[in-house]
Amino acid sequence: MEAIKCIETRRSIRKFKAEQVPHETMQEIVAAAAYAPSWKNTQVTRYAVVEDPQIKARIAEEATLGFEHNSGIIKNCAALVVVNMVHGRSGFERDGSYTTSKEDRWEVFDAGLATQTFCLAAHDKGVGTVILGIFDEAKVAEIIGAEDGQKVAALVAVGYADEEPAAPKRKSVDELVKFM
Ligand SMILES: Cc1cc2nc3c(=O)[nH]c(=O)nc-3n(C[C@H](O)[C@H](O)[C@H](O)COP(=O)(O)O)c2cc1C
Repeated sequence: MEAIKCIETRRSIRKFKAEQVPHETMQEIVAAAAYAPSWKNTQVTRYAVVEDPQIKARIAEEATLGFEHNSGIIKNCAALVVVNMVHGRSGFERDGSYTTSKEDRWEVFDAGLATQTFCLAAHDKGVGTVILGIFDEAKVAEIIGAEDGQKVAALVAVGYADEEPAAPKRKSVDELVKFM
C-alpha cells in the first residue's frame, strides 16, 4: 500500500473477527516494525503476543483499572500484544547516566515509534489494531511474567476487523504547524 494512504486509512479497530492472525503474519509485522528509528539504534522495543484466552481474560479482568471498555476489547481481540521496553539503554550513557533532561523518557518515545510502525505494517497486511493506554502496568507485567529489565509500554489489541469505523476528526494543518 502507498505510504500516505496507509497512514490515512489506518483506524483504531475495537471489534474483531474470531479468526486468529497467523504467526507468520505477526512475525512479518514485527519485522517491519523493527525498521522504526530508535535512540542510537538501540532497538529496545519487544513484543509479547498473548493468544491464550485465559491469559487475555486475566488481563481484561484484573489489569484494566476498572475500564470495562478496554476489558471488552481485550477479550474480543485475536491477540493482545504487550509492547515492552528494555529499560536503561535508550536515552542513557554507557555509565548509566541520562544523556538529556528527558532522562529515561526516550525509551517511551522509541516504543511509541515502534508501536505506530507495527500498527501501520499490520494495516498494510489487512490486520486491525488499537493501542490501549489504560491498563495497570504492574499487573500486566505480573500476569505475563515480564522479563527482568523490561517495562510495559503499551498494549495493542490485534485481529481481523469486524467493523469499519470512520476517521475521527483531525485538526487542521494551520492548527498543527507554524513556520519560523
Ligand atoms: C497512547 C494511546 C493510548 C490509547 N488508549 C486507548 C484506550 O485505552 N482505549 C481505546 O479504545 N483506544 C485507545 N487509543 C486509541 C485512540 O482513541 C485513537 O487512536 C484515536 O481516537 C484516533 O482514532 P484512530 O486511531 O482511528 O485514528 C489510544 C491511542 C494512543 C495513541
